[in-house]
Amino acid sequence: MRVVSGIQTTGNLHLGNYLGAIKQWVAMQDQGECLFFLADLHALTGTVTPQELANSTIEMAATLFAAGIDDRSILFNQARVPAHAELCWILQGTARMGWLNRMTQWKDKAGKNRDGASVGLFTYPVLQAADILVYQATHVPVGEDQKQHLELTRDIATKFNQDFGVELFPLPEPLISKAAPRIMSLRDGNAKMSKSDPSDLSRINLIDSDDTIAAKCRKAKTDPEPLPDSFDALVERPEARNLVTIFAALADRDPQSVVEEYAGQGFGAFKPALADLTISVLGPIRERLTALLNDRAEVGARLAKGAARASALAAPTLKAAQQAVGLQV
Ligand code: TYM
Repeated sequence: MRVVSGIQTTGNLHLGNYLGAIKQWVAMQDQGECLFFLADLHALTGTVTPQELANSTIEMAATLFAAGIDDRSILFNQARVPAHAELCWILQGTARMGWLNRMTQWKDKAGKNRDGASVGLFTYPVLQAADILVYQATHVPVGEDQKQHLELTRDIATKFNQDFGVELFPLPEPLISKAAPRIMSLRDGNAKMSKSDPSDLSRINLIDSDDTIAAKCRKAKTDPEPLPDSFDALVERPEARNLVTIFAALADRDPQSVVEEYAGQGFGAFKPALADLTISVLGPIRERLTALLNDRAEVGARLAKGAARASALAAPTLKAAQQAVGLQV
């Protein structure tokens, strides 16, 4: 089992990233060979200043170390392993315009102004496929929003293997967290919790102070009804359902047991409990993160070591892909 996953280095890591992805990553470290990376090349497809990109890469790496990624895994930044970009170029010969045109992330991010979107935003999923295939990954732990990109990765792998008559790329399986496939905004139960939401109240960031976490829980949108005794009864109450999901995922509990505990009570009782629980999980991560950020050079050095290990694993696959297509390198 070879596990690969990444996070784009824009904005702050939030509770959705933690529960949907990072928590799974930490748990998987004993189950297979794990490679995790900061997708700094992907960040270039949006608007990010050089200073923001540089800071974000170090801060997100430190956050991942603080959350429990350790030397059992290989952690690095994508730009330091040129094989990702090299394989991406080769795979751009395999991926079809029609496939990329169907990507919902492209449609959402480009909006109506497609002519004004960067070319990189359009080919973004091909680089993501290269990130995964260059390590011949078998499993990719991600949130539900990345499922379509994983399907595209499988399509690219299948077509490449067929077109060139090789069995180079295994078809990677997405591993989507059962507890937290899609954490929603605290302000709108129908929108994903996201780094790009203009309202900071919509998300809990992993760097938020205890007071900020408590205030965001208090201000989270809810409804006036008390909690029912069945989780299924929350189908039509997206905000309430989301808060129960967050509680259950943070506590490693079944959401049904959480609603049973609070059945008949309103959010006046539930929200303070949610805030205490969130603080108990995120507080220690934030404290380790703050300590790590006192030595940014050390974080950078750890990333460079990770990149050397990753490059060694990527090299044979890149070479095989180059040979398959007839490149003389
Ligand atoms: P990114 O940076 O948007 O998010 C990183 C991870 O967090 C998950 N996630 C969520 N999970 C549950 N609820 C949410 N509200 C939520 N928001 C984000 C994402 O699904 C993801 O797992 N394109 C990727 C980065 C990437 C990548 C890769 C991932 C680049 N190359 C190769 C896997 C393999 C992205 O932008 O994730």
